[in-house]
Amino acid sequence: MKILIKKGKIVNSKERKPRVADILIDKGKIAKIAPQISCEGIEKEINAAGKIIMPTLIDMHVHLREPGREDKETIETGTKAALAGGAATILAMPNTEPAIDSREAVKLLKEKLKEKAHSNVLISAAITEGRKGKKLVDIEGLAQEGVKAITDDGSSVDDSQLMLKAFEQAKKNDIIVICHSEDRSLSKKGVLNLGFSSTCLGLRGIPKSAEFERVARDIRLAEEAEARIHIAHLSCKESVEIISQAKKRGVRVSAETAPHYFSLSEEDLWDFDTNKKINPPLRSRDDALAIKQALREGVIDLIASDHAPHTENEKDIEFERAEFGTIGLETELAVAVTELIEVKFLDWPDLVNKFTAKPAEVLKIPEPEIKEGRKAELIVFDPKKEWVVEKNNFFSKSKNSCFLGRKLKGKIERVFYKGRFI
Ligand code: DOR
Ligand code: ZN
Repeated sequence: MKILIKKGKIVNSKERKPRVADILIDKGKIAKIAPQISCEGIEKEINAAGKIIMPTLIDMHVHLREPGREDKETIETGTKAALAGGAATILAMPNTEPAIDSREAVKLLKEKLKEKAHSNVLISAAITEGRKGKKLVDIEGLAQEGVKAITDDGSSVDDSQLMLKAFEQAKKNDIIVICHSEDRSLSKKGVLNLGFSSTCLGLRGIPKSAEFERVARDIRLAEEAEARIHIAHLSCKESVEIISQAKKRGVRVSAETAPHYFSLSEEDLWDFDTNKKINPPLRSRDDALAIKQALREGVIDLIASDHAPHTENEKDIEFERAEFGTIGLETELAVAVTELIEVKFLDWPDLVNKFTAKPAEVLKIPEPEIKEGRKAELIVFDPKKEWVVEKNNFFSKSKNSCFLGRKLKGKIERVFYKGRFI
């Protein structure tokens, strides 16, 4: 089947200047890119004038919740949400019930994915059995099973000696360790950032030190083991500074942030909206700006959603009792465009870099690109379309978006994946 996409503006992370061209897709592959293509047997022609054509995204921080919490999300709904949000490849987090902490658990998950996944799903496994922080998983066995990363995401491994061993094993097996940076002895029972807002609202605060002290420790341990480390969901200025210094020393560290950390701040919690209760918490405006700057400077390498679905029962309750987390798959691109491109903070190739080339580099997989001969996996994006985030329009089973009601600029029009437009 031949499909022709006419006159779209093609953005790849490696090309500094986006170019307007036609794209011919034949049998699911990009057959030709040229200023003007006309050929026989076109079955579908799409006028993409004024639209951005970019590769599909890699989102390396997604909670699919299966097995065990299918009331929040399933492989089916989560991967549909991923594709709707433009992510054809996602990394599934292992804090399921039970946790993905053994070869058997990975094998079972692979079976389920084969049957139910609509997008490409990579697997990460826990660092410790049951994510309890006591005993390391069989890192070698899991690496042989094709696991892309290990992480106890949702919590941090408190035992430094155990964590050092994890880094050593990870290095031996060429696997990356993703760190959820939180010192629970500091975050305790906090529910939002410690500061002016927590004082005014009378809620228990989480100090920034709970994050950056753990970032510093994990980087030191990774450095000692000469292992690769990836810091998940960065939220504050001090963590950025620590990572910047480590990169200058040559530590093999990469870092991600999520759209809410550069587009919202603790002031947004004055409405007590539990969808904005996230861990790590939304910080100050100053921190949000530091996160943006770190993205621009490359200290923070990439953007991931930290898609964390929770049911209405777990969210529509008092702030202190609500679960931590927001969904993000279906809004991440538009939020990033609104907050970073519209205000001219980043340009298109840089933004695409943070959603494609960088996560590909961290996970050691091929970079998605719009290039002749490559599989046609692309997004047709309308940069002018304004829309409001609404509960009823999500593919995700849970609707706990911190962006509900927010007006965004730019919308995914179609996603081409596995030989068809979705
Ligand atoms: O807000 C969060 N939700 N942060 C985490 O680290 C875990 C996640 C979840 O699994 O719900
Ligand atoms: Zn997470």
